[in-house]
Amino acid sequence: MKQDPDTGRASSLATGLRLWPLKRYSEMHRRSLEDPEDFWSGEARKLDWYKTWDRVLDWHMPYARWFVGGRLNACYQCVDRHAKMWRRSKVAIYWEGERGETRVLSYSTLFREVNRFASALRQLGVTKGDRIALYLPMIPELPIAMLACARIGAVHTVIFSGFSAQAICDRVADTQAKIIVTADGGYRRGKIIPLKEITDEAAVRCPSVQNIIVARRTGEPVPMKEDRDIWLPSLLEGAGKFIDCEAVESTHPLYVLYTSGTTGKPKGVVHSTGGYLVFNHSAYQWVFDIREESVYWCTADVGWVTGHSSIVYAPLSHAAAIVLYEGAPDYPTVDRWWDIIAKYGVRIFYTSPTAVRMFVRHGEEGPLKHDLSSLELLGSVGEPINPEAWQWYYKYIGGERCPIVDTWWQTETGGIMISPTPGIEPVPLKPGSATFPLPGVDAAVVDASGQETRPGETGYLIIRRPWPGMLLDIYGDPQRYKETYWTRFPGSYYTGDFAMKDEDGYLWLLGRADEVLKVAGHRIGTAELEDAAVAHPAVSEAAVVGKADEVKGEGIVLFVTLKEDVKPSATLRKELVRHMRQAIGPVATPDEVYFVDSLPKTRSGKIMRRVLKALAVGQSVGDLTTLENEASVDEVRRAYEGLKKRVSAAEGD
Ligand code: WTA
Repeated sequence: MKQDPDTGRASSLATGLRLWPLKRYSEMHRRSLEDPEDFWSGEARKLDWYKTWDRVLDWHMPYARWFVGGRLNACYQCVDRHAKMWRRSKVAIYWEGERGETRVLSYSTLFREVNRFASALRQLGVTKGDRIALYLPMIPELPIAMLACARIGAVHTVIFSGFSAQAICDRVADTQAKIIVTADGGYRRGKIIPLKEITDEAAVRCPSVQNIIVARRTGEPVPMKEDRDIWLPSLLEGAGKFIDCEAVESTHPLYVLYTSGTTGKPKGVVHSTGGYLVFNHSAYQWVFDIREESVYWCTADVGWVTGHSSIVYAPLSHAAAIVLYEGAPDYPTVDRWWDIIAKYGVRIFYTSPTAVRMFVRHGEEGPLKHDLSSLELLGSVGEPINPEAWQWYYKYIGGERCPIVDTWWQTETGGIMISPTPGIEPVPLKPGSATFPLPGVDAAVVDASGQETRPGETGYLIIRRPWPGMLLDIYGDPQRYKETYWTRFPGSYYTGDFAMKDEDGYLWLLGRADEVLKVAGHRIGTAELEDAAVAHPAVSEAAVVGKADEVKGEGIVLFVTLKEDVKPSATLRKELVRHMRQAIGPVATPDEVYFVDSLPKTRSGKIMRRVLKALAVGQSVGDLTTLENEASVDEVRRAYEGLKKRVSAAEGD
């Protein structure tokens, strides 16, 4: 880790210290924007290409294509190039099961496993461009399956193992995946999640699925359908030992990952191979100073984008050793994570503010019991981190010596966009600010008309030019791609986030500006939740708003109107909560459910969310009304007062 010449520390808090000029970072950032093609081709040369690109960038708004004409393979970058040299015997994956089992995979073991898996897929008829769905717990087979797909040019779509059958169905139907890879179960807080049964429930509604491959985890018996279902171990027994990497075009899709937007249907974000890998490889050096000797642990689930970039592709491309932990953070005891850090000598630790807040609640005894001196750098991702949680993280986990990189990014951006870059030079930190855009990232905060805001003013975060990790498209829906990201501020990418730039140029990310919630760091759309709620036979209409939650960042508040003959009751409330969990998964659990006889609407029938929000958070509608462009202040106030009465009446049940 680089040291600040004055303080001798790896990084320092800006508060109370002078802000030293960031010479190297500023110079790099300036150069990257002055001549992006030269800058990015320099970065791309750090990877191994079968064929170098003809053009660095083809930019035809809204489509950017990077390293056009180049050919490479993601599995080669992450596995082969390390397994070919002395690194073959170094650790690639430290796996820790929830029940305390461990598996350690060297790069040569990873190479062997990936090759066998890839050969098996090929034997089942998988070829370049085919989509493969992965619905697996956090076991080594998950990254192995991803890399195996990449090896033969197949496109993986990972489905978070906390999602329900419906979510699998939607994703498999959209991608027309012909294989689902799952397991006989996964462990969560000591319980078995019946992944195979859930997959079966989905598969009956997914005609594209020809085979289900089942990995062994729990050893419990599961139903197997002849001719369709295959045990992974027996499949691998008959598979070849080696299969060549497919030299895919730089623009070939590496994966599709579904994420929530403002409509009920999640969008399939498509990422490229070349641009995505170049961007992530560089970003992880700048942000985490990651090296082959790093023991790196990102606690996210591989089912989210953080898991794709931060667990699999970026750290493995640097030949780091990753920690993969299967279970819950506080199981069986609240110091499980600190135990894992000490056990493996983790140097870089990357987690979410929700997790930090949860540990703040548990108190500092947990971390104090363990030797966390191996840690050098801490990271935060997924939601804004409040200064109190930041300070606790800094003090009790980082021992006041590790800088915290607060990294802002999105499924769509593919990799980190705004973050301190201690891998370039130490950055004075301000708790709660993600600091500055990475080299190559042209971020700006603008008002509704697209003008840059003044320091201290809140606005919308936009990115004014393409970057290599940018999504290629939304799978099968180019119109939605264009409308969601490129029409609000023509020529710029609209992030959907509020942000503020302070007097020192530091960026503060202030949460979503659209109807997307961040519940415990998990991204979920209100429309998706509302669709799930109205699918319940008792529900007529539904509206969801977020409510600040001390630990989860945001909680889900559900308002419903019921069908004519249905009466509100405590039993029905419980039933609705259960229904939501079943329809989407535990992430969709409402914290509060209100029965109302009608939802407040504008004259044109739009639900007045601000009214619901004000009610949910127990504030008066006040100034929020100015944001409701279709209703008069009076109308909003009346709707609010009326609704308040009705809610309290219904609560009397
Ligand atoms: C939010 C997660 C504040 C933001 C990688 C963004 C953050 C959404 C931060 C994307 C951060 C992510 N500070 N907010 N450091 N990182 N966000 O697609 O609202 O699951 O738009 O990607 O998370 O969520 P997604």
